[in-house]
Amino acid sequence: MTLLRVYIAMSLDGYIADSAGGVDWLNPYFCPEIDFMGFAKTIGATVWGRKTFDQARQRGEYHQESGRVVVMTHRPLPQDVPAGIEAFAGDVRELAARLKQELAGTGKDIWIGGGGESIVPFHEARLIDRWEISIIPVLLGEGLPLFPKRGPGVEGLTVKRHRALSNGIIEVHYEPARAGRG
Ligand SMILES: NC(=O)c1ccc[n+]([C@@H]2O[C@H](COP(=O)([O-])OP(=O)(O)OC[C@H]3O[C@@H](n4cnc5c(N)ncnc54)[C@H](OP(=O)(O)O)[C@@H]3O)[C@@H](O)[C@H]2O)c1
Repeated sequence: MTLLRVYIAMSLDGYIADSAGGVDWLNPYFCPEIDFMGFAKTIGATVWGRKTFDQARQRGEYHQESGRVVVMTHRPLPQDVPAGIEAFAGDVRELAARLKQELAGTGKDIWIGGGGESIVPFHEARLIDRWEISIIPVLLGEGLPLFPKRGPGVEGLTVKRHRALSNGIIEVHYEPARAGRG
Protein backbone atom coordinates (compact mmCIF):
# COMPACT_ATOMS: atom_id res chain seq x y z
CA MET A 1 0.00 0.00 0.00
CA THR A 2 1.36 3.42 -0.94
CA LEU A 3 1.34 5.78 2.02
CA LEU A 4 1.06 9.56 2.16
CA ARG A 5 3.74 10.59 4.64
CA VAL A 6 4.45 13.98 6.13
CA TYR A 7 8.18 14.08 6.95
CA ILE A 8 9.16 17.36 8.47
CA ALA A 9 11.25 19.10 11.11
CA MET A 10 9.40 21.11 13.73
CA SER A 11 10.55 23.25 16.65
CA LEU A 12 9.44 22.14 20.08
CA ASP A 13 6.79 24.89 19.99
CA GLY A 14 5.33 23.71 16.69
CA TYR A 15 6.98 25.85 13.99
CA ILE A 16 8.58 24.73 10.72
CA ALA A 17 10.12 28.11 9.87
CA ASP A 18 10.73 31.38 11.61
CA SER A 19 8.47 34.38 10.96
CA ALA A 20 10.49 35.34 7.89
CA GLY A 21 10.23 31.82 6.48
CA GLY A 22 13.81 31.07 7.44
CA VAL A 23 15.05 27.63 8.41
CA ASP A 24 18.64 28.47 9.37
CA TRP A 25 17.82 27.43 12.93
CA LEU A 26 17.82 23.85 11.61
CA ASN A 27 21.43 24.05 10.40
CA PRO A 28 23.15 23.14 13.69
CA TYR A 29 21.06 19.97 13.88
CA PHE A 30 21.87 18.34 10.53
CA CYS A 31 23.77 15.13 11.22
CA PRO A 32 24.34 11.75 9.54
CA GLU A 33 22.05 10.04 12.07
CA ILE A 34 19.09 11.71 10.33
CA ASP A 35 19.67 9.57 7.18
CA PHE A 36 17.68 11.71 4.76
CA MET A 37 18.85 9.64 1.79
CA GLY A 38 17.55 6.48 3.46
CA PHE A 39 14.18 8.20 3.71
CA ALA A 40 14.37 9.55 0.13
CA LYS A 41 14.87 6.03 -1.24
CA THR A 42 11.44 5.08 0.10
CA ILE A 43 9.71 7.93 -1.75
CA GLY A 44 8.35 7.86 -5.30
CA ALA A 45 6.73 11.29 -5.43
CA THR A 46 7.10 14.48 -3.43
CA VAL A 47 4.50 17.20 -3.04
CA TRP A 48 5.65 20.71 -2.12
CA GLY A 49 3.82 23.92 -1.35
CA ARG A 50 4.68 26.77 -3.68
CA LYS A 51 6.45 28.82 -1.00
CA THR A 52 8.70 25.94 -0.01
CA PHE A 53 9.34 25.08 -3.66
CA ASP A 54 10.28 28.68 -4.53
CA GLN A 55 12.63 28.83 -1.56
CA ALA A 56 14.36 25.59 -2.57
CA ARG A 57 14.48 26.72 -6.20
CA GLN A 58 16.36 29.85 -5.19
CA ARG A 59 19.02 27.52 -3.80
CA GLY A 60 18.91 25.41 -7.00
CA GLU A 61 17.37 22.45 -5.14
CA TYR A 62 14.45 20.49 -6.55
CA HIS A 63 14.61 17.38 -4.35
CA GLN A 64 14.26 15.09 -7.35
CA GLU A 65 16.18 12.44 -5.40
CA SER A 66 12.85 11.67 -3.76
CA GLY A 67 10.84 10.79 -6.85
CA ARG A 68 8.91 13.04 -9.09
CA VAL A 69 7.88 16.46 -7.85
CA VAL A 70 4.44 18.04 -7.69
CA VAL A 71 4.04 21.66 -6.61
CA MET A 72 0.78 22.82 -5.07
CA THR A 73 0.17 26.23 -6.63
CA HIS A 74 -2.43 28.39 -8.30
CA ARG A 75 0.24 29.91 -10.57
CA PRO A 76 2.25 28.55 -13.49
CA LEU A 77 5.77 27.40 -12.70
CA PRO A 78 8.70 29.38 -14.12
CA GLN A 79 9.85 28.15 -17.52
CA ASP A 80 13.34 27.19 -16.32
CA VAL A 81 11.99 24.56 -13.91
CA PRO A 82 13.27 21.07 -14.85
CA ALA A 83 10.96 18.97 -17.03
CA GLY A 84 8.62 16.62 -15.22
CA ILE A 85 7.86 18.92 -12.29
CA GLU A 86 4.10 19.31 -12.18
CA ALA A 87 2.04 22.25 -10.92
CA PHE A 88 -1.19 21.16 -9.27
CA ALA A 89 -4.30 22.99 -8.04
CA GLY A 90 -7.44 21.05 -7.49
CA ASP A 91 -8.86 18.24 -5.45
CA VAL A 92 -6.04 16.65 -3.46
CA ARG A 93 -8.00 13.38 -3.35
CA GLU A 94 -7.65 13.20 -7.14
CA LEU A 95 -3.92 13.93 -6.90
CA ALA A 96 -3.40 11.34 -4.16
CA ALA A 97 -5.32 8.70 -6.11
CA ARG A 98 -3.36 9.44 -9.30
CA LEU A 99 0.04 9.31 -7.57
CA LYS A 100 -0.91 6.10 -5.77
CA GLN A 101 -1.89 4.57 -9.09
CA GLU A 102 1.44 5.64 -10.62
CA LEU A 103 3.39 4.16 -7.72
CA ALA A 104 1.41 0.95 -7.39
CA GLY A 105 3.76 -2.02 -7.18
CA THR A 106 6.91 0.10 -6.66
CA GLY A 107 6.82 -0.15 -2.86
CA LYS A 108 7.37 3.61 -2.71
CA ASP A 109 5.42 6.23 -0.83
CA ILE A 110 4.36 9.84 -1.32
CA TRP A 111 6.12 12.55 0.65
CA ILE A 112 3.92 15.48 1.56
CA GLY A 113 6.85 17.82 2.12
CA GLY A 114 5.08 20.95 3.32
CA GLY A 115 5.00 23.60 4.42
CA GLY A 116 2.04 23.69 6.70
CA GLU A 117 -0.32 25.49 4.31
CA SER A 118 -0.04 22.84 1.62
CA ILE A 119 -0.35 19.98 4.10
CA VAL A 120 -3.73 21.32 5.28
CA PRO A 121 -5.83 20.16 2.27
CA PHE A 122 -4.44 16.61 2.56
CA HIS A 123 -5.05 16.70 6.29
CA GLU A 124 -8.59 18.03 5.83
CA ALA A 125 -9.28 15.16 3.42
CA ARG A 126 -7.90 12.72 6.03
CA LEU A 127 -5.32 11.49 3.54
CA ILE A 128 -2.21 11.59 5.74
CA ASP A 129 -1.21 8.04 6.66
CA ARG A 130 1.82 8.92 8.75
CA TRP A 131 3.23 12.02 10.42
CA GLU A 132 7.01 11.67 10.67
CA ILE A 133 8.04 14.60 12.78
CA SER A 134 11.55 15.46 13.87
CA ILE A 135 11.18 17.58 16.97
CA ILE A 136 14.07 20.03 17.17
CA PRO A 137 14.99 21.10 20.71
CA VAL A 138 14.51 24.80 19.95
CA LEU A 139 11.79 27.21 21.02
CA LEU A 140 11.29 29.77 18.23
CA GLY A 141 8.56 31.71 20.05
CA GLU A 142 6.84 32.58 16.77
CA GLY A 143 6.94 31.51 13.15
CA LEU A 144 5.12 29.44 10.53
CA PRO A 145 3.26 26.56 12.17
CA LEU A 146 3.24 22.94 11.04
CA PHE A 147 -0.43 22.90 11.98
CA PRO A 148 -2.08 26.15 10.84
CA LYS A 149 -5.04 26.96 13.07
CA ARG A 150 -7.68 26.30 10.41
CA GLY A 151 -6.53 22.69 10.05
CA PRO A 152 -8.61 19.97 11.66
CA GLY A 153 -7.53 18.16 14.77
CA VAL A 154 -6.44 14.55 14.79
CA GLU A 155 -7.67 12.11 17.34
CA GLY A 156 -6.39 8.69 18.16
CA LEU A 157 -2.86 8.89 16.83
CA THR A 158 -0.64 5.93 17.55
CA VAL A 159 3.10 6.30 18.08
CA LYS A 160 4.60 3.77 15.68
CA ARG A 161 8.24 4.63 16.20
CA HIS A 162 10.38 7.04 18.18
CA ARG A 163 14.08 7.65 18.31
CA ALA A 164 16.27 10.09 20.19
CA LEU A 165 19.28 11.37 18.27
CA SER A 166 22.49 12.26 20.06
CA ASN A 167 21.99 15.98 19.29
CA GLY A 168 18.59 16.11 21.02
CA ILE A 169 16.30 15.64 18.02
CA ILE A 170 13.37 13.34 18.75
CA GLU A 171 11.97 11.56 15.70
CA VAL A 172 8.38 10.45 16.18
CA HIS A 173 6.14 8.62 13.73
CA TYR A 174 2.43 8.97 14.37
CA GLU A 175 -0.27 7.13 12.48
CA PRO A 176 -4.04 7.46 12.61
CA ALA A 177 -5.70 4.20 13.58
CA ARG A 178 -6.87 3.47 10.01
CA ALA A 179 -3.38 3.55 8.45
CA GLY A 180 -0.34 1.36 8.50
CA ARG A 181 1.32 -1.53 6.80
CA GLY A 182 0.99 -4.40 9.13
N1 LIG B 1 10.98 22.58 8.85
C1 LIG B 1 10.80 21.88 7.74
O1 LIG B 1 11.13 20.69 7.66
C2 LIG B 1 10.15 22.54 6.57
C3 LIG B 1 9.62 21.76 5.52
C4 LIG B 1 8.96 22.40 4.47
C5 LIG B 1 8.84 23.78 4.47
N2 LIG B 1 9.38 24.51 5.50
C6 LIG B 1 9.24 25.97 5.50
O2 LIG B 1 7.86 26.29 5.47
C7 LIG B 1 7.72 27.58 4.88
C8 LIG B 1 6.57 27.60 3.89
O3 LIG B 1 5.44 27.00 4.48
P1 LIG B 1 4.00 27.62 4.22
O4 LIG B 1 3.04 26.79 4.99
O5 LIG B 1 4.04 29.08 4.51
O6 LIG B 1 3.81 27.51 2.64
P2 LIG B 1 3.82 26.26 1.60
O7 LIG B 1 2.92 25.19 2.06
O8 LIG B 1 5.22 25.92 1.25
O9 LIG B 1 3.21 26.99 0.31
C9 LIG B 1 1.93 27.58 0.40
C10 LIG B 1 1.48 27.86 -1.02
O10 LIG B 1 1.19 26.63 -1.68
C11 LIG B 1 0.09 26.83 -2.56
N3 LIG B 1 -1.02 25.98 -2.11
C12 LIG B 1 -1.30 25.55 -0.86
N4 LIG B 1 -2.42 24.81 -0.86
C13 LIG B 1 -2.85 24.76 -2.14
C14 LIG B 1 -3.96 24.17 -2.80
N5 LIG B 1 -4.89 23.47 -2.12
N6 LIG B 1 -4.08 24.33 -4.14
C15 LIG B 1 -3.15 25.03 -4.85
N7 LIG B 1 -2.10 25.64 -4.27
C16 LIG B 1 -1.96 25.51 -2.95
C17 LIG B 1 -0.27 28.29 -2.49
O11 LIG B 1 0.53 28.92 -3.48
P3 LIG B 1 -0.02 30.01 -4.55
O12 LIG B 1 0.66 31.27 -4.16
O13 LIG B 1 0.42 29.51 -5.86
O14 LIG B 1 -1.51 30.09 -4.40
C18 LIG B 1 0.21 28.68 -1.10
O15 LIG B 1 0.47 30.04 -0.94
C19 LIG B 1 9.03 27.91 4.21
O16 LIG B 1 9.63 28.93 4.96
C20 LIG B 1 9.83 26.62 4.29
O17 LIG B 1 11.20 26.86 4.46
C21 LIG B 1 10.01 23.92 6.53
